[in-house]
Amino acid sequence: MMNALRDSGDDVQRQDNLFEKIASDLHDRGYSIQPRALPPGLASDLCLHVRDMPSSEFRRAGVGRGDERIVNDFVRTDEVSWITASSSVEQEWLGWASSLQTYLNRRLFLGLYSFESHYAHYCQGDFYKRHVDAFKGQTNRILSLVTYLNPHWLPSYGGELVLYRDEQDVEGLRITPQLGTLVVFLSEEFPHEVMPSAHDRYSIAGWFRVNTSTAAVADPPI
Ligand code: OGA
Ligand code: MN
Repeated sequence: MMNALRDSGDDVQRQDNLFEKIASDLHDRGYSIQPRALPPGLASDLCLHVRDMPSSEFRRAGVGRGDERIVNDFVRTDEVSWITASSSVEQEWLGWASSLQTYLNRRLFLGLYSFESHYAHYCQGDFYKRHVDAFKGQTNRILSLVTYLNPHWLPSYGGELVLYRDEQDVEGLRITPQLGTLVVFLSEEFPHEVMPSAHDRYSIAGWFRVNTSTAAVADPPI
């Protein structure tokens, strides 16, 4: 009993510290990279869950919005599956994202209103070329989030996320898609890409949105 109480107190403290680091990074430079961010139990449950899903639940990712959506092998070759609250592990994931949303709204007054996310699966050779997740004034995506579901990623697998600090940056920051690592960045500000992966690579990409009804009509998820 004492242990359980102490552990849960520690967990709350740990989560608060993490959310505060993310908030201050976003405030200072617009992005945050946090290894071991996901609660370990949630990370490993998501990791098992995504590998258990039938391949029929994934479909080739598109580029472009609404009616203009097309599958473009030159830009990206991964496949995705939108996350709904259809299992307890997904409910836990959405609950965790919602706590982060609440924290960031209180701390930074971002007015984040909703969250959507999908699993992405990159097979051997898959990539996603340099892109931004939102174009200024055309979307209500404010904040992008990516987390990784690969327990034993080796450097030889490639598949890094490269996050560019602005339009001019060609060097970027390289992030290994290691289980539990979380990357959060302002959707309109940071071009990024996924280097070709030499190994099956699983991630979750998500977006916090603001509620502007015109943009909501113009920009449905995929
Ligand atoms: C995306 C994306 C990055 C990653 O889905 O928009 O940029 O590392 N994903 O999976
Ligand atoms: Mn992206």
